[in-house]
Amino acid sequence: MFEYEACIIGTGRVGLPLGLSLVDVGVKATGVDVDPNLIAAVKEGRMPFHEPGYDELVASGDFVVHDTPEVVSKSAAIIMTVGTPLHNHIETDLSQIQRVLESIKDYIRKDHLIILRSTVAPGTTAYVHKWLERNTPFIVGEDILLSFCPERIAEGVAYKELRTLPQIVGGEDDASRDAAAELFGKLAPEVMKTNFITAELVKLFCNISRYVHFAMANQFALVADNFGANIYETRRLANHNYPRSSLAMPGFTAGTCLRKDFGMINEWNAYPDMMLSAWKMNEYTPAMLVDHLMKRTSIHDCRIAVLGFSFKADTDDIRDSLVPKLHRYIERQLPIEIRISDHNLPDPIHEPSAHKPLKNWPVADALEDIDCVFVATNHTGYGDVLKELGRTRPQAWVADIWNVGGIDQIFYQAGDLVAVEV
Ligand SMILES: NC(=O)c1ccc[n+]([C@@H]2O[C@H](COP(=O)([O-])OP(=O)(O)OC[C@H]3O[C@@H](n4cnc5c(N)ncnc54)[C@H](O)[C@@H]3O)[C@@H](O)[C@H]2O)c1
Repeated sequence: MFEYEACIIGTGRVGLPLGLSLVDVGVKATGVDVDPNLIAAVKEGRMPFHEPGYDELVASGDFVVHDTPEVVSKSAAIIMTVGTPLHNHIETDLSQIQRVLESIKDYIRKDHLIILRSTVAPGTTAYVHKWLERNTPFIVGEDILLSFCPERIAEGVAYKELRTLPQIVGGEDDASRDAAAELFGKLAPEVMKTNFITAELVKLFCNISRYVHFAMANQFALVADNFGANIYETRRLANHNYPRSSLAMPGFTAGTCLRKDFGMINEWNAYPDMMLSAWKMNEYTPAMLVDHLMKRTSIHDCRIAVLGFSFKADTDDIRDSLVPKLHRYIERQLPIEIRISDHNLPDPIHEPSAHKPLKNWPVADALEDIDCVFVATNHTGYGDVLKELGRTRPQAWVADIWNVGGIDQIFYQAGDLVAVEV
């Protein structure tokens, strides 16, 4: 009756890997997006962003992305994976979901299974439920089916995790839950059924607990440095063979998921709480690095390098990265020059909040005659880069929150790395 088994709406970093993985397990799937560059890349058979494991699948041309939504009428399941950011204040921005609903409502047919997969604030699937019954002639659970099936993959390991993570399936009626479970059962090793709100909270709690865990690590790094102690040594001793301690590494905690999801719960809470404090702590880490390096050396009459610009290691995703903020804090100290280098990104880097495109330096050029280096992202290879700097420019100061230098210190001079080697 339907030509496709699944149509993914919003084939970005979540939707495209999902569509390709469904094709990989034999599901006839297609996609819809509004980004012409993304559609062109898929049409040319290449991934529009870095996500290992999908090159052959996208090159096969079996997964087609359409630029208009009519194709949903030919698909048994409609899976929404559009973005769900926060507005500038602590408030969920539902506009992408609302636009999708408007765009597909005339193509929704009896027996359609509609799946919400974007990360959403509690109550959003219930909102979609009511929206569908207000704006289409269908009753959910009788004429059409509706489920919330959260995506829990991490960028960079989507291919593996789509096949190995258990899938949570939220629904308010057996038919919706069963239909969604049958579809995701083709991909996931295990399917767990529940209601809308629990499925929504599972996803948010997974992300927020990581966000708070990392905030605690960042706070401990701040406390340790204030006491003149070394956070990496403290953490190593605390975690070693002690079953009730699992302190995380400090680091920039950001990215589109972790940085926003706490807001989806916090918008309904008027009082300061742990999630808000975690936000404050994680947001403070760029300022902490600048401030605490300045306690050791001036950065005013200096050339500064910033290594890494994406929000996490070995990705080309700069959305919600804390590095632009670090860059602005360094800028405020008016150093002679700031050189940004990230080998995963193009030159120049177009960062939406920057007043001009940012030059992306080759790493060797960025470090020539440098006085201070901020390791902003823990990309593979930076450890060797720093060791080389230790030989050529031992007096250069390094702010290394990720410990890529491997000497268990956040602030040190590059020559210290060579001293450890000898
Ligand atoms: N990126 C991750 O690692 C990750 C992991 C788990 C969950 N999530 C959640 O998944 C959702 C999607 O995130 P993402 O990182 O894939 O975002 P993304 O921006 O990469 O992808 C969203 C896509 O939707 C498209 N889109 C927007 N409006 C549209 C419309 N009206 N019709 C068709 N397409 C439209 C955009 O062009 C874009 O390609 C978010 O809710 C996010 O929180 C993301």
